[in-house]
Amino acid sequence: MVEDKGNVIVLFKLLRHMHNDWPEYLKLFRKELGIKEMSLSQELLEKQPKATDFEESMAAIYKIQVVYDLDASNMTRGILNGKSYNVKNWGADECLIMGLLNQLMKHYDLSEQWFRLALIYFRGHPRPKELDIKLFKLSNILELLVEANKGLGHYSKARQYANELLSLQPNHNYINNQLLKLNDLDKKPPKSTKSNEKMYQLQKAICTKEYPKISLEEKFKLSKKINLRHYPNFLTKNETEALKMVSRPQLNRDENLSWNCSCKIAELKGSEHEIVNIINKKIRDISGVGKNVNEVIEVINYGISGNYNPDDREMSKRDHKANVLIFLNNVKQGGETVFPSLNIKLKPRMGTMLLWLNSEKRVWHHQCPLIVGNMWMATKRLY
Ligand SMILES: *[C@@H]1O[C@H](CO)[C@@H](O)[C@H](O)[C@H]1NC(C)=O
Ligand SMILES: *[C@@H]1O[C@H](CO)[C@@H](O)[C@H](O)[C@H]1NC(C)=O
Ligand SMILES: *[C@@H]1O[C@H](CO)[C@@H](O)[C@H](O)[C@H]1NC(C)=O
Ligand SMILES: *[C@@H]1O[C@H](CO)[C@@H](O)[C@H](O)[C@H]1NC(C)=O
Repeated sequence: MVEDKGNVIVLFKLLRHMHNDWPEYLKLFRKELGIKEMSLSQELLEKQPKATDFEESMAAIYKIQVVYDLDASNMTRGILNGKSYNVKNWGADECLIMGLLNQLMKHYDLSEQWFRLALIYFRGHPRPKELDIKLFKLSNILELLVEANKGLGHYSKARQYANELLSLQPNHNYINNQLLKLNDLDKKPPKSTKSNEKMYQLQKAICTKEYPKISLEEKFKLSKKINLRHYPNFLTKNETEALKMVSRPQLNRDENLSWNCSCKIAELKGSEHEIVNIINKKIRDISGVGKNVNEVIEVINYGISGNYNPDDREMSKRDHKANVLIFLNNVKQGGETVFPSLNIKLKPRMGTMLLWLNSEKRVWHHQCPLIVGNMWMATKRLY
């Protein structure tokens, strides 16, 4: 694929930064490759980010793009799902990186889109020669487009790109060989081109569905029959901050993938933290449920693309009486709470508490992938 693997990996390391904030991430990529970026890479190298960080970053971008059907071209202009962020556009470099991420995962439909954009930006660059001294040359983009189209089974398109590349570099051995193969494939395409299994279909189904556009009051009237209660301003800003603060040292990635939560969780006990005691008491007073039996509050932190989408069919047992969910911050985009069985979708609002009873069946909630920012919430089970 791309000869200079070392440099690609250095760039992957930069992806870690996307966990701060998507717009920040876009800005970061705008930094000119040069002394500044080299020293940044050095800094990151010293921090020895784990391989999983890169995989997660890649998976994060891929997840949001797939779940929300984000248009690659709009992403390059800082438009995410219809919302515009004031950031400098991505150029050929960034599109190439995105293409590579997808190509590595054999998601050729997306990689082809990104490489095509890279080509457009490359050609639109006022001084394309400058791009040549960066990581990639025009020939690299064309080579990757050959590979992506081949992966998609678009053999004649792949041949077009191969021929274009050969017009620049007639002695390109690899592409000459590819062209021979492509000619054969074009004449006799393989019967079944195995398409990549679509991922994140559950998230997509739940998070992009149209939910009734009615007021919050209306929603909660409708939900009376299942007893979903809603308490705005249940916690003050200070209380949410205090809870976040004590949870920070205890946050751990949710390693139990069976929960399908891509998030970090801290289990806090009332006996260890006064703020947890205070909140436990507030919950008891207002709900009348859970007579001091369960002192634990879980604080959950979601980064970009973080989500919780359990498969309701697999775990529909009722194991506790009621659930509490408290939003600890407002969220810029994504991260809505969905109750599929109630046809209700809610935007997180700092300090608001939701409380619902699991009567005959357990009522499941989902958290849609976060698009921008960071999301905090607290949950509690009442037995
Ligand atoms: C790109 O964003 C614009 C502005 O939000 C929107 O009107 C357009 O439909 C988007 N394009 C695609 C292909 O999603
Ligand atoms: C909230 O916290 C700030 C700083 O910690 C403090 O100065 C302020 O008095 C607190 N407000 C309330 C209403 O407790
Ligand atoms: C992981 O989740 C499963 C299914 O909910 C649960 O039974 C199991 O105890 C959990 N394991 C750990 C280590 O938390
Ligand atoms: C987790 O998500 C996957 C994919 O959507 C699904 O197949 C699986 O059943 C889920 N597991 C649980 C325990 O919800």
